[in-house]
Amino acid sequence: MTDALTTLTTAAVPDFPMPRDSGCPFAPPPQLRELHAEQVRAGQPLTKVRIWDGSTPWVVTRYEDQRTLLADPRCSVDQRRPGFPYMNPSFQEVAERGSEPAFLTMDDPEHARIRRMVTGAFTVKRVEAMRPAVQRMTDGFIDTMLAGPKPVDLVRALALPLPSLVICELLGVPYEDHEFFQTKTEMAMRHDASREEVGASHHALLEYLDGQIQVKLADPTDDLLSELAARHRDGELTRRQAASMGLLLLGAGHETTANMIALGVAALLEHPEQLTAIRDSDDSKILSGAVEELLRYLTIIHLGNRRIALEDIEIGGQTIRAGEGIVLPSITANWEEAYFPDPERLDVTRDARRHQAFGFGIHQCLGQPVARLELEVVFGTLFRRVPTLRMATDLEKLHFKEDGLVYGLYELPVIW
Ligand code: HEM
Repeated sequence: MTDALTTLTTAAVPDFPMPRDSGCPFAPPPQLRELHAEQVRAGQPLTKVRIWDGSTPWVVTRYEDQRTLLADPRCSVDQRRPGFPYMNPSFQEVAERGSEPAFLTMDDPEHARIRRMVTGAFTVKRVEAMRPAVQRMTDGFIDTMLAGPKPVDLVRALALPLPSLVICELLGVPYEDHEFFQTKTEMAMRHDASREEVGASHHALLEYLDGQIQVKLADPTDDLLSELAARHRDGELTRRQAASMGLLLLGAGHETTANMIALGVAALLEHPEQLTAIRDSDDSKILSGAVEELLRYLTIIHLGNRRIALEDIEIGGQTIRAGEGIVLPSITANWEEAYFPDPERLDVTRDARRHQAFGFGIHQCLGQPVARLELEVVFGTLFRRVPTLRMATDLEKLHFKEDGLVYGLYELPVIW
């Protein structure tokens, strides 16, 4: 009887993440959309789901509920707290190793103190000043691509190296080391990597950045690692903290934008009328609007932002108990009919600025102006310079990163 009951209870809790529909790889998983529709219909914010380690945090799918919780200081990002709903084994590995947390996994006031040290590099003005350099880099990668044999894997030719080069420039990491970063960050974020592989990748990156902080202490330049080194010299950060911040910026700015470029190009190639609207318009607002719409439509942080309740939290007549995990997939909020009518329609002319692809609240993405800049330059350049660009294979044959922390494409073969 007990066994039967257990089976029933276990079966009633859906697994998370849920599989995508292979026929529609850009859309959120159908089962997750149903769960979201049910929460909207019932007016209930909370449902239990089962994640990879067998634990059962709450999933919160509605737009308003997500904003409420992401703005609530009782929802912590501290991954060292027992019961934290880790995204994957690598996060658990890193937390259990007792590594120095970076500000993404810190609560205020410490989070605010540390985040403030680097916000200066991400102001819209500072980032806008990088536009000519990002344009040059993009043109350079496209030149190389056009000069070589076809088909080309756009992930290797443009989507990965561009963000890598941009973040290396921003940090002041030598570009010669970018191959090393790509391999290590990708490994650290893979679902199917062993704990040892993940731990080793993380450790290697941290050691490397620690060495770079040392270099910048002796020989400062005009970049973020030199800024962090100066904070260390002034006693505001330990050297380990400075290296951890470098690692956070590197990881957060690299995989994300790379996947957004590859997936965005694939989505536009699948929607030629939308692509034409971007390519043929001289209005920069169309391009910037298209970037927002692609961020909404694709919502690449597909495993949801993760939190743990520090106290009991009442929401919509339900209660999250202290110590319970919370999963907030912005992918459902960004496809909520009431906020984005006909959400399954990719429409570059819609006003999608309210999307939550960059999160919400105090942890909202610090690097969003950099990501926007790169995406605007790529989508604004690639289709003009290569107007006949098309996929060299069928959409169904592409290998999507369902197993990744960040949704995207392993490769995107193209011809022109
Ligand atoms: C399309 C590209 C990107 C997407 C979709 C994205 C998404 C996100 C999201 C959803 C969060 C919030 C996580 C949470 O609340 O738990 C976040 C935080 C963050 N992102 Fe991004 N990001 C992108 C690009 C970048 C870039 C280019 C950088 C740096 C150059 C960056 C740096 C950061 C940092 C430092 C945080 C932590 C902020 C904090 O905790 O205060 N991101 N990002």
